[in-house]
Amino acid sequence: MATKVAVIGLGYVGLPLASLFHKSGYDVVGIDVDPRKIKSLDKGESYLSDFTDKEIKKLTSSKRFSYTTDFQSIQTASAIILCVPTPLKDHQYPDLSYLESATHALLPFLKKGQLVVLESSTFPGTTEEVLVPLLQKSGLIIGEDLYIGYSPERIDPGNKDFTLAEIPKVVSGVTDRCREKTVSIYEKAFHKLVPVDSPRIAEMTKILENTQRLVNISFMNEMSQVCHQLGIDIWQVITAASTKPYGFTSYFPGPGIGGHCIPVDPLYLKWKANQENLDTPFIDLAKQVNDAQPSYIVSRLEKALSKEVKNPSILLIGLTYKKDVNDVRESVSIPIMEQIIDRGWSVDYHDPFMEDILVKDKQFKGVQLEPDILANYDAVLILTDHSHIDYNHLVEHSKLIVDTRNCIKGHYPHVIRL
Ligand SMILES: NC(=O)c1ccc[n+]([C@@H]2O[C@H](COP(=O)([O-])OP(=O)(O)OC[C@H]3O[C@@H](n4cnc5c(N)ncnc54)[C@H](O)[C@@H]3O)[C@@H](O)[C@H]2O)c1
Repeated sequence: MATKVAVIGLGYVGLPLASLFHKSGYDVVGIDVDPRKIKSLDKGESYLSDFTDKEIKKLTSSKRFSYTTDFQSIQTASAIILCVPTPLKDHQYPDLSYLESATHALLPFLKKGQLVVLESSTFPGTTEEVLVPLLQKSGLIIGEDLYIGYSPERIDPGNKDFTLAEIPKVVSGVTDRCREKTVSIYEKAFHKLVPVDSPRIAEMTKILENTQRLVNISFMNEMSQVCHQLGIDIWQVITAASTKPYGFTSYFPGPGIGGHCIPVDPLYLKWKANQENLDTPFIDLAKQVNDAQPSYIVSRLEKALSKEVKNPSILLIGLTYKKDVNDVRESVSIPIMEQIIDRGWSVDYHDPFMEDILVKDKQFKGVQLEPDILANYDAVLILTDHSHIDYNHLVEHSKLIVDTRNCIKGHYPHVIRL
């Protein structure tokens, strides 16, 4: 019988990971508390944009893959991998309630010799200060009876350039033996492992990666405002600067940063630093710039509209937080849509990944991009650059376009770029 891996939380991280472990020859059980996810798997329907229904059916019909809401099934697993959400409480503090509740659910079923690995993004110290004490309640001795590791998830949903297995995997353990156990499970699934000395290093690695993105993208948003004011095309500036063979890394402006990771993880670090009486001015400023971006975008839209248009109708292109995913968590398209509604303007959206959405108590259904439909809107505001939208078609049939993602190539009098 193959070694069994249990994956707890079958979302954007857990399901692809479960699928990779399955492909690597393990028996896999996926556990999720959300009955809708279990029902979708029962029906062979994908709830993630990176999986087709066919791929889900293939996975769920395998004898080596099962899924359930019942934690009892971890009893026969050699490794248990936690992929539960780590959101914010009150928009600013770490919310570890999902991690705590999943860990509590494991306790009655843990067995000697098992490995528990946390993959959720979180502040440095979580594994040793939160997970270890919780798991010690099992009575098992950590490093002798039960092994604990931390391996940050680096998946980039929607990115077709790297498969999950190709992304180097940072791995760590609470003790040397814990790290060895983690390596032994992960090395069969990933092409390259990057073992580090402690869970804190692995936790900080992930947060550093995402904080660097928050700070640099926010900086580019500031630069785009400066360039706009000075009449300079920021996109040409970045293209030219990126020809420097060293010392410049390209980051791009946009409508603001969304998703479950980049706007969230730096605040986990900020909270931890604040606990140690340290300030994090870069994170604070980056957050402030990012939070102000939706208002800036709406003000640019307002300036672009002719003064004669009294109650403009706006079509948003893209609601999800980034291209080619069906995830609207923390998406800036939502506050932008809310601000447009607050101005009394009319708004619709088109997003191939989002059939409908509730915003400000109103149910919106995505519209199609037929020429006569496009012609009805006073402006089209591009917020997410999904791959399979025909941008030339938008140029041809729209009265005015505000493009926050530089996805329209060429210069047109009715197209305004950020
Ligand atoms: N989405 C990404 O691109 C991404 C990338 C890297 C890291 N991460 C991190 O990975 C973690 C998971 O993120 P995600 O995007 O997969 O979230 P998600 O919401 O898509 O998936 C989490 C799943 O966990 C389930 N769950 C919640 N509580 C549970 C419990 N007690 N027991 C079992 N299942 C439970 C939820 O029902 C959900 O299906 C987060 O820490 C996130 O920051 C996410």
